[in-house]
Amino acid sequence: MNIPGGIRVKLALALLGIVGGALFAAYVIVVPSLERRLVAAKLDQLQSDAQALAVNYATFQAQNNLRLGDFVAGAGFVANSRVVVFSVAGSPHEMRLISLADSSAVGGTDMVQDSTALAAARTVQTVRERVRREGLQYAEVAVPLLTGGNVMLLSSPLSDQLATVALVKRRLFYATVAALLIAVGLGFAVAAIHARRLGRLQRAADRIAQGAFDEPVLDDGADEVGQLAESFDRMRIQLAQLDRARKEFVANASHELRTPLFSLAGFLELLADEDLDDATRKEFLATTRGQVERLTKLATDLLDLSRMDAGRIRIEREEVGLAEVARIVAEDIGALADASGHTLVVETDDDAWAIADEERVQQIARALAGNALLHTPRGTTVLIRAERRGSRVAFVVHDDGPGIPAEHLERVFQRFYRVEGGQASGSGLGLAIARELAGRMEGTVTVVSRPGATTFALELPADGALRITSV
Ligand SMILES: Nc1ncnc2c1ncn2[C@@H]1O[C@H](COP(=O)(O)OP(=O)(O)OP(=O)(O)O)[C@@H](O)[C@H]1O
Ligand SMILES: [Mg+2]
Repeated sequence: MNIPGGIRVKLALALLGIVGGALFAAYVIVVPSLERRLVAAKLDQLQSDAQALAVNYATFQAQNNLRLGDFVAGAGFVANSRVVVFSVAGSPHEMRLISLADSSAVGGTDMVQDSTALAAARTVQTVRERVRREGLQYAEVAVPLLTGGNVMLLSSPLSDQLATVALVKRRLFYATVAALLIAVGLGFAVAAIHARRLGRLQRAADRIAQGAFDEPVLDDGADEVGQLAESFDRMRIQLAQLDRARKEFVANASHELRTPLFSLAGFLELLADEDLDDATRKEFLATTRGQVERLTKLATDLLDLSRMDAGRIRIEREEVGLAEVARIVAEDIGALADASGHTLVVETDDDAWAIADEERVQQIARALAGNALLHTPRGTTVLIRAERRGSRVAFVVHDDGPGIPAEHLERVFQRFYRVEGGQASGSGLGLAIARELAGRMEGTVTVVSRPGATTFALELPADGALRITSV
């Protein structure tokens, strides 16, 4: 149900309902039972008075010198109630009462057919009743008298008892009104505090939605709202990091794209010069081709990264022979190794079968082997090895180049990170892509390096099937 006025009105209404319900239940239970008890107590007292007076009446009858009128007057005074003595006439089916004496000064005919006295006459037993006469309520007890078949009736108004009940009713009503007012006030106050805290959270969420991540989300409470604020703040920090990374990525990518594009534009302008001799033209064309290749590789790498970030990269799960991968990669880079004066050695373990995506494994292997050629000087030996390591398999590239200083070792896996003053300059994306791809195949890429020995290893889950290698 949608109640206008928000949490304040809802909480106040809920408290109102609870308090109102509780007090109504108390009212329904307490008031009628109080009334029943008070009336019963009054009837008990009248009954014991009536029984005592019935005994006295017997004594009175023995003393003929006393008038009946005097007896009932005295009895009414003692019992503090109206006492009437009736004689009974008529047949058992149609009894009539004849008032012999009445302690009430007024007397009157109001008692002539009193139901309580008639019932006592009929049953010859004590009868107690609550009756209404002329708009007033009375407690009445009638006792049959032993002599002459007479009946004595004691009648006392219930006004005191009913006044007490009315007073309790009134007090309960005032208490209910006061409790309801307090509940509404309290509900409003408590809800206002929470509404204010929620309002702060809402404003913080709006700020975050608009991309303002600087201001922390604060709330002192240790309750659910406080925990929500903490979650919001964690989300803010995470979003701020992502936002920073995204901005850095865009800045780095545009920088990387601009450098070869400027160089391309420059060479194209030089090539337009008609006086250029053939040798220089060829050299410029080769450089231009190199820049285009660099741009193409960069575009492919950026596309790979954006696909991985968007979770849109498909990874196959197939059997991949790492020995075969090592041979293919060695063949691919063989010419480059010769040209750059590197010695290439390949060692393969034919047991090294992985469960991975073959194309992606080759991409990582090419990046690692390429790095060993590009970032080490001439004369360096590069060893490519495929090996089985228990339940894992590894593609290892080892070189005896100058190595990577310890402080750069983990950072070379960050996007666009390059070691300053290195041998060659790439865009710094190769290792970042390699590590992310390996992760998606439940693998890892690690590095160990010291001057003269650098080893990069791609480790992947081994294929469980046993293979018999033909000799
Ligand atoms: N075998 C190695 N020996 C020394 N330095 C290395 C070696 N491999 C990588 N590096 C250092 O790590 C850096 C990051 O390598 P990464 O492959 O990520 O980028 P890159 O090779 O510079 O560019 P690209 O994106 O074209 O691969 C390199 O710039 C280089 O400084
Ligand atoms: Mg590289």
